[in-house]
Amino acid sequence: MTFYMPVKVYDEKNCVLNHAGEIASFGTKALLVTGRSSAKKSGALDDVQNALSRFETSYCLFDEIEENPSVETIWKAYEYAKKEDVDFVIGIGGGSPLDASKAIAFLLDRKDASKEDLYNADLPADALPVIAIPTTCGTGSEVTGVSVLTVHEKKTKVSIPHKIFPKIALVDGKYLKSAPKSMIVSTAIDALAHMIESFESNKADDYSKAAVLEGLKIWGRSKDTLLNGLNEECFGDMMRASTFAGIAIAQTGTSIPHALSYILTYEDKIPHGMACGYFLKGYLQNADPSDRKQILDAAGFQSMEEFSAYMDQIFLDMHVKEETLQRAYEVVSQNKARLKGCRFFVDEEVLKKMVF
Ligand SMILES: [Fe+2]
Repeated sequence: MTFYMPVKVYDEKNCVLNHAGEIASFGTKALLVTGRSSAKKSGALDDVQNALSRFETSYCLFDEIEENPSVETIWKAYEYAKKEDVDFVIGIGGGSPLDASKAIAFLLDRKDASKEDLYNADLPADALPVIAIPTTCGTGSEVTGVSVLTVHEKKTKVSIPHKIFPKIALVDGKYLKSAPKSMIVSTAIDALAHMIESFESNKADDYSKAAVLEGLKIWGRSKDTLLNGLNEECFGDMMRASTFAGIAIAQTGTSIPHALSYILTYEDKIPHGMACGYFLKGYLQNADPSDRKQILDAAGFQSMEEFSAYMDQIFLDMHVKEETLQRAYEVVSQNKARLKGCRFFVDEEVLKKMVF
């Protein structure tokens, strides 16, 4: 077994300000990478700017990372940051800014970088130091080496082959307070999908499963707030569960629900977490009974029926078109490696039961 998780995690209230000196110690000038709004609204950007100013470390801001960032946007940020002569990168936001910050840090560490370098697997994965601050509770990108970008020529999203782990992850539930409830629910369901899929991956081992079971316990104690109303405690729990889920998928990757979800997001614009979560019932129903019991027990569900009723409530207002499901089924049923990636047997018939 191999367990590689080289990220130092600070998970506490006000961790950005508490560890300002350490953040500032990574260089002389930081590139702050954000999307348009959540880094600002959540207060995370303010905290980072205050932390850096306190230690007289300068910074510049690139706040144009879009949802599912494209190679073109990464290149624009790289050209800007190169001129600014930065020597470390701080990603603040959801999965998109965090993934983007890794790719930008990779380009910035190269002399004469080109766009093609991003997908050149022969190059070493050296990068400027990255610090990651999540403001959503689903990505787990703060503890993974993964950076997924949109490649317009291929009309799809592709992970870059280089594993770029942040040096530090700063995990603070307070950054969820200003987020819309629908976003918190969707990203919390994404984290749940990461944990269940990781547990049922045939790459799962005792280390990754320990992260899943602890993460499910934390997720489970706040799960009812997703239905009944969010509170202070749930922000911290959901953020922490998402980080545990990230630690698990950094070891195992995701599985069939994620593979099925991409069509739902691409064609019907269903948010990523909801698109993955839609298939969790069918996925878990077909898992080995003893695995299923461990997952349900850890998350505080008495039975599969209770889990199904919970998920039905989460998905009360969501409808997926029959033809989209059919397309998702067709794409994944042809991907034999995906079907074989589970700890339990999946053929086209079993997949059908998960989808329809
Ligand atoms: Fe996900």
